[in-house]
Amino acid sequence: MNATSGEPLLQTSGLTLSFGAINAADGIDFILRQGEHLAVIGANGAGKTTFINICTGYIKPTAGCVMFAGQDITRKGPRQIARLGVGRSFQLPQLFLEHTVQECLQLASVARSRRISRWIPLARNADGHAVADMLELVDLTSYRDEPAAVLPEGHRKLLDVAIALMLEPRLMIMDEPTSGVASEDKHAVMQTIMAALRQRQVTSWFVEHDVDIVLAYATRVAAWIDGRVAADGEPQAVFNDPVVRREVLGER
Ligand SMILES: Nc1ncnc2c1ncn2[C@@H]1O[C@H](COP(=O)(O)OP(=O)(O)OP(=O)(O)O)[C@@H](O)[C@H]1O
Ligand SMILES: [Mg+2]
Repeated sequence: MNATSGEPLLQTSGLTLSFGAINAADGIDFILRQGEHLAVIGANGAGKTTFINICTGYIKPTAGCVMFAGQDITRKGPRQIARLGVGRSFQLPQLFLEHTVQECLQLASVARSRRISRWIPLARNADGHAVADMLELVDLTSYRDEPAAVLPEGHRKLLDVAIALMLEPRLMIMDEPTSGVASEDKHAVMQTIMAALRQRQVTSWFVEHDVDIVLAYATRVAAWIDGRVAADGEPQAVFNDPVVRREVLGER
């Protein structure tokens, strides 16, 4: 199912969206290739989440298009785009807090197979092996029977990613996977997420403010300024860019 590494997987041309006087997306031309792990950096309000929202069907651009695996997805909705192979995790994890960790993954499993039924118990309709494998993959087996509500923030982030991975995406887009996680836990959370993505051969793009995390896990960095890609390339080169140092990192 995976295309050859290095082939364009997601491509945007001329993506444009304004909120009043703010250009949240200002004609973005962008290519993400199979096998990349891209970090998107940028100041608050630069348009990072807006770009994700357009590429995942949550909002429509006023101009431009988004291609995924050779298909135009610009006008498709979030569910259709998810089914085509684009997974997403959120700045604030979107969990069914009253359900246990295992039940959250069972729900994702039945959603994937469209076997949701009010009459058949969740555990019987879900793919038990896939759920158990996913629990192992993201180190949540020991939390299996805990309600999602009681998980520490780092484990909630892992669960949010695991739910998206149950749909077997080719691309995983993560909006600030370490935000809200205690600083001493950030690396461990990211380590687990990235190992899971690599194991499943999923291309990724994540928004991240922590420079150390970006340098540790990204194969490429793109810097957003005012709805535009201001710098894009090898991580250290982007962090050495004077415009990035001034506008994104806030150096004088
Ligand atoms: N639904 C909306 N209505 C009006 N303005 C919006 C809306 N969504 C985003 N904006 C504005 O568009 C700009 C880009 O916002 P966006 O959320 O994409 O930024 P971001 O880079 O993700 O920021 P952060 O780092 O704070 O998450 C901001 O000025 C924001 O206030
Ligand atoms: Mg954002």
